Amino acid sequence: MPLEIREILPGFGAEVSGIDLTQPLGPEAEADVVDAIARYGVCVYRNTGLTDRTHIWFSRTFGNLWTIGGQATRASRFDYPQLFEAGNLTREGQISQDEMARKRRKGDRLWHTDSSFTRERTTYSLLLAHEVPAEGGQTGFADMRGAYDALPQTMKDRIADLEGEHSYNYSRMLAGFPISEEDVEKGMIARHKLVHVHPGSGRKSLYIASHMLRIAGMEKEEGRALIKELIDFATQPQFVFYHTWRPGDLVIWDNFCTMHRGGEYDDVHDRRDMRRTTVMAYPPPPVVLDPRFADRFDPKQFEAMVEA
Ligand SMILES: [Fe+2]
Repeated sequence: MPLEIREILPGFGAEVSGIDLTQPLGPEAEADVVDAIARYGVCVYRNTGLTDRTHIWFSRTFGNLWTIGGQATRASRFDYPQLFEAGNLTREGQISQDEMARKRRKGDRLWHTDSSFTRERTTYSLLLAHEVPAEGGQTGFADMRGAYDALPQTMKDRIADLEGEHSYNYSRMLAGFPISEEDVEKGMIARHKLVHVHPGSGRKSLYIASHMLRIAGMEKEEGRALIKELIDFATQPQFVFYHTWRPGDLVIWDNFCTMHRGGEYDDVHDRRDMRRTTVMAYPPPPVVLDPRFADRFDPKQFEAMVEA
């Protein structure tokens, strides 16, 4: 059955229905799902009924998943290293009162692309809502292909060959997390072109984020002024929509053609249980990262797994 698609903005963002993501999709439906995200950049699926397992399972449609490691694995409240914490709960399931963690999360309120601060980036983020705050917490999405198309030609020419330098710590610093610029410089910094061809559509797209601390080869202040100008341009109302979450919502976005930002909510008093899987941009590594999902493409194994 073909997907039912309701566009949110012209050519950007779609609410998709007519499909049960908890079941094996089969090649045709998988192709439709992949095509929808390539076309619209952000796809919203309501009332999915997904669990941690089926969330991970469905995410494998798009490729290999990013996994946490080291100390973060021990700190995680999830059973699966493929799940990234996007809420405000402790391992015990209580609202976290850790002031530093709250300050760090403030950086997510700035427009950004997930993982732009890593050399090997991620493409799709698949964020599933388990519990949502009573008010606030909407996620904003911005269309980086539409924004690129609308740039004046002089700006397109100016940025065509430029590269941005991205740091996770820099966006935390911008949002008020106590870290010095010297320490930002000592941390991980990754460099990526400001303009690239979006693999899913062949269209040109901006690849920018609040993680960008400078433009390679450009004087720092001049670079930061350009970064601000581009982010301000690309997040004008005509390129942006906000998603109001309900439990069971899954939103998929392609970090190679979008930016997003989290919305304010009362994170001291309101529970937000959101879990994200993230798809690696690069070809699969030679080993399967998690043997529990090695059988991803065998429907019989899938049935055995969901019944277990
Ligand atoms: Fe994010």
